[in-house]
Amino acid sequence: MEISSLFLIYTIIFLSSCFVLLSYHPYMKKRRKPQEQSAKLPPGSMGWPYVGETLQLYSQDPNRFFASKQKRYGEIFKTHILGCPCVMLASPEAARFVLVTHANLFKPTYPRSKEKLIGPSALFFHQGDYHYRLRKLVQASLSPETIRKLVPDIESTAISALHSWASPPNNDQVINVFHEMKKFSFNIGILAVFGHLDSNYRDQLKENYTIVDKGYNSFPNSIPGTAYSKALLARKRINEIISELISKWKEQRLIENDLLGHMLNYKDEKGQTLSDDQIADNIIGVLFAAQDTTASVLTWILKYLHDDQKLLEAVKTEQMAIYEANEQGKKPLTWTQTRNMPITYRVIQESLRMASIISFTFREAVEDVVYKGYLIPKGWKVMPLFRNIHHNPELFPAPHSFDPSRFEVPPKPHTFMPFGNGVHSCPGNELAKLNMLIFIHHLVTKFRWELVGNEKGIQYSPFPVPLHGLPARFWRN
Ligand code: HEM
Ligand SMILES: *[C@@H]1O[C@H](CO)[C@@H](O)[C@H](O)[C@H]1NC(C)=O
Repeated sequence: MEISSLFLIYTIIFLSSCFVLLSYHPYMKKRRKPQEQSAKLPPGSMGWPYVGETLQLYSQDPNRFFASKQKRYGEIFKTHILGCPCVMLASPEAARFVLVTHANLFKPTYPRSKEKLIGPSALFFHQGDYHYRLRKLVQASLSPETIRKLVPDIESTAISALHSWASPPNNDQVINVFHEMKKFSFNIGILAVFGHLDSNYRDQLKENYTIVDKGYNSFPNSIPGTAYSKALLARKRINEIISELISKWKEQRLIENDLLGHMLNYKDEKGQTLSDDQIADNIIGVLFAAQDTTASVLTWILKYLHDDQKLLEAVKTEQMAIYEANEQGKKPLTWTQTRNMPITYRVIQESLRMASIISFTFREAVEDVVYKGYLIPKGWKVMPLFRNIHHNPELFPAPHSFDPSRFEVPPKPHTFMPFGNGVHSCPGNELAKLNMLIFIHHLVTKFRWELVGNEKGIQYSPFPVPLHGLPARFWRN
């Protein structure tokens, strides 16, 4: 079976908060407004009580579960996963309704155990005013105007990663691409948050963050010695490190253009600043949001390029022209050059579509909502299914073939959402794409790689990545 238990545990934890909902079904009792009285629940089967359809979901590829439901019931259907009544949405219009036009009726929802680990003040747990203000700060520090200054640092981070993977002659070093990409993405995250950070602090943050990361996907409990409780302790140490950095920054008036600088500079209308905890939670939140996502997509890109040598040649030709223009790489890449890599850019878009590593997201209805005559009761989860939309043959013909040329024509608005949509959509999307472009430039102009085994299959870590993290060997040309 391809589905790792990790993914199962992840979703159990994710949804465990729903058990509470079972004890009272508000949609059974409450009086409703006239419009809502006539509205009926969406079609679908709720499965057995308590267990719901969880077993069906996990006895097959989760994506196949959603796809077969969509085939049977259409764009909106209900189900029950681990005691959690859910409405799944498989059309661009329904996703847009929840995420954009009626976003105020749906709040983000995460299990408490995960909130505690990342930090309850991180922006993605919030809605309304606090979310809006923090989001503006995060967006400013990740905007094109800010990140264009990071090009040289991203370049040197990518080059040094690639050098460390390349086998010296007569030595066959096998790399777990996903693990290595995680290290690379973490370093870029650090760059975006802190700018240049003393390597001593960076190592401390990295060591402790690795422990937090392990705990995130394990069963939450407070028994000493378990991954989750170790993660909570490491999370506390990270707070100490960040507090120390904050006092240093303040002392030296090191107010920079990075995220920490933006947060330290912040004052609301009443002159109120952000607390150290609020700052720390948002720093961890950004590092968390940046790492596995970018690493998973980059891992897929290496697989897709490897599996299509003709495409790889086309990307190489595009990148070699830039390499030559830069005097065999003696001159650094410029921001303008990164904006002009159309073939490589389409490979990235198609990889984001094919892999759809954020296959869906969760929200919770804050009141009874009616969508196209269907009732979504207060307290129910809603899940916009990005992957199903990206794999709908009416929107993306021959959806299972990897074909970057489909992006020569821009996709219809609101049908391509690798970075989500609406008020919670990804503020890091420009940085993520910049990383990938720069990484690919150095990869294809100076290195070659071979996959070891190249088995078919997917593992969930918790995002989908190629089996075993894509073992590979790298050489310098
Ligand atoms: C290829 C890489 C990435 C992908 C596919 C991705 C995807 C997403 C998606 C789909 C969401 C919305 C989730 C939802 O609506 O529930 C999101 C939110 C977010 N992402 Fe990314 N992301 C990536 C990289 C990054 C990077 C590099 C950063 C920061 C440096 C970042 C920071 C964030 C933050 C802070 C949020 C929460 C925004 C909010 O709640 O307002 N992401 N991301
Ligand atoms: C974690 O952070 C602390 C500082 O709070 C540091 O002393 C320690 O070396 C770091 N690493 C680990 C693995 O604990």
